[in-house]
Amino acid sequence: MTRHFLNLGDAGGDALAAMINDAIDRKDARKAWPKGKADTDAPLADHVLAMIFEKSSTRTRVSFDIAIRQLGGTSIVMDSGSMQLGRGETVADTAKVLSRMCDAIMIRTDDHAKVEELAANATVPVINGLTDLSHPCQIVADLLTLIGHGKALPGLEVAWLGDGNNVLNSIVEAAGLMKFNVRIGCPEGYDPDQSFVAAAQAAGAKISVHRDALEAAASADVVVADTWVSMGQAHADTKMDAMMPFQVNDVIMEKAKPDAVFLHCLPAHRGEEVMPSVIDGPQSLVWDEAENRIHAQKSILRWAFGQI
Ligand code: CP
Ligand code: NVA
Repeated sequence: MTRHFLNLGDAGGDALAAMINDAIDRKDARKAWPKGKADTDAPLADHVLAMIFEKSSTRTRVSFDIAIRQLGGTSIVMDSGSMQLGRGETVADTAKVLSRMCDAIMIRTDDHAKVEELAANATVPVINGLTDLSHPCQIVADLLTLIGHGKALPGLEVAWLGDGNNVLNSIVEAAGLMKFNVRIGCPEGYDPDQSFVAAAQAAGAKISVHRDALEAAASADVVVADTWVSMGQAHADTKMDAMMPFQVNDVIMEKAKPDAVFLHCLPAHRGEEVMPSVIDGPQSLVWDEAENRIHAQKSILRWAFGQI
């Protein structure tokens, strides 16, 4: 059975924990090696990862490329605009062709249904590198970052401030799988996807939505922000105005626990969703979080090939 990673639930909580442990071990084992040097065991030697980008990317693109190299394999990176996919070739046909030529496919696109269609027609693993609905790979790196900084996940209080977007949906999904809680501070009309919330709550996570940012941030162990305008969304002054009370600034961080940490998947917009004093301050883990994308992608790839 081909393993696809379209959402965190495709792996489940136990596999997610194992992926994070694997990432920690492999990260430790490499120490200060050059980034392009393969791990000693090269567990995906000779494997080719195809990457399709229908949206911009810096971290996902580079981290998957480096990840497959460190695992001993190689990658082909394509922007859909330069593919026949961009001229109307179907997702299904693209899936069938790439399955004959490559060993796995990572795709970043808009409509989540496209990733599902790709997976339904592929005979090799398909990985969701971000859709309008979710961003599961990011959250593996986020959990790895928290654990690496001594934050045990069960019972952790995570405060999300801002737009109820793809990244938040995957955080909420992770909460159900790893048993932590999420306090969401967002304006009315910008709540996360209700199906993710319901599933996490059914799994025992406390997920609450607050219209007051300070209430959401109170006693949090982790404060998370993301852009107020995701890729593909129109910039609207009304939305920016509605979001402004949910900006992560020093007042918000003072409401969180004294040892609270700050996460942001990047790219960031200083002065909008976060102030420089926070993202560039001592509580911020954003650079570890970005680096951890590499280590997380390696575990995701190894899981997809049944090695975890
Ligand atoms: N966080 C993240 O996915 O970054 P990119 O858009 O640069 O890939
Ligand atoms: N929510 C953001 C995440 C970028 C990595 C977006 O979809 O643009």
